[in-house]
Amino acid sequence: MHDRVTAIAHSNIALAKYWGKRDVKRNLPSVGSLSMTLSNLHTRTTVVRDDTLENDSIYLGDSPAPPSFSNRASRFIDLIRELANSQDALRVTTENSFPTGAGLASSASGFAALTLAATRAFGLELDNRALSRIARVGSGSAARSLFGGFVEWHRGEAEDGSDSFATRVAPTEHWDVHMLVVVTSDEAKSYSSTDGMNLTRDTSPYYDAWIRSSETLLTEMRQGVLERDLTRVGELMEASCLRMHAVMLSATPGLLYWNGATVELIHAVRALRSEGIEAYFTIDAGPQVKVLCRPSDAKTLARRLGTLNGIKEILEAGVGPDAYLEPS
Ligand code: DP6
Repeated sequence: MHDRVTAIAHSNIALAKYWGKRDVKRNLPSVGSLSMTLSNLHTRTTVVRDDTLENDSIYLGDSPAPPSFSNRASRFIDLIRELANSQDALRVTTENSFPTGAGLASSASGFAALTLAATRAFGLELDNRALSRIARVGSGSAARSLFGGFVEWHRGEAEDGSDSFATRVAPTEHWDVHMLVVVTSDEAKSYSSTDGMNLTRDTSPYYDAWIRSSETLLTEMRQGVLERDLTRVGELMEASCLRMHAVMLSATPGLLYWNGATVELIHAVRALRSEGIEAYFTIDAGPQVKVLCRPSDAKTLARRLGTLNGIKEILEAGVGPDAYLEPS
């Protein structure tokens, strides 16, 4: 059997952050989160179901993926195999449109594209919620990358995770805002999100405060996005980011994902704002800085921020589309 399926999913950046798991095995979050899907930055994954193969074969472009990557992908495919009641292995080839080694997490777009392609290759017809629940197990942020526009991943209450999936808050064309991705390092992450989240939960005295404050922020963020209120969304996005990094820093040992350029960028974004250019920063589990702005300010901002020391590259993205299957 050789069914070839190709899926494309776009990356996303959380405006209201996910940090913390209430169930590690099912990958259920302790807080809900809300993201913007990014145009330009996508993963394209082709899957071929092959009953002559003994094990999955996973390629990153033309090269076999490193064992850490293929083992994680293969364990994830096991879930889909089980759902489909199949023993068949997959040949998977995956490519990112953004430079690999640019220090950008690709797990969101990667697991979303793999979910879409692999479920289809096994002949499963699933709705978006079911797809999002599956992608969530691969990587939490992947639950959001199945959708374009502005997307909320619900914390859910159920122990089995049945109500923890993402839904669209507003479609791609709802609001034309841009995100600059300012790359300050191309080194691999020092501490994975999963390990970082578990360490934070186990050791931070501020963990409960982070969880409690996230819910109100998420409600306000949803409102701000629906009203296309850049000031409100930007201020809330910075608050969510800084609170998340505060709780990371308060773990033992403290998790510090920033480098010097990350800090310089925070100051620069604030300085530009006081000059009247509306721009807001957010930072994930790494040293890159993402800057939310009006499309008409993006070029000026990229030029000004690009003069700082330690900037490797600046990518610009608008609001991206739904994940989709390429017509075969
Ligand atoms: C800081 O989705 O990479 O980017 O579920 O453990 O795979 P796992 O984590 P992941 O974590 C993303 C954390 C974040 C914030 C966010 O995207 O909401």
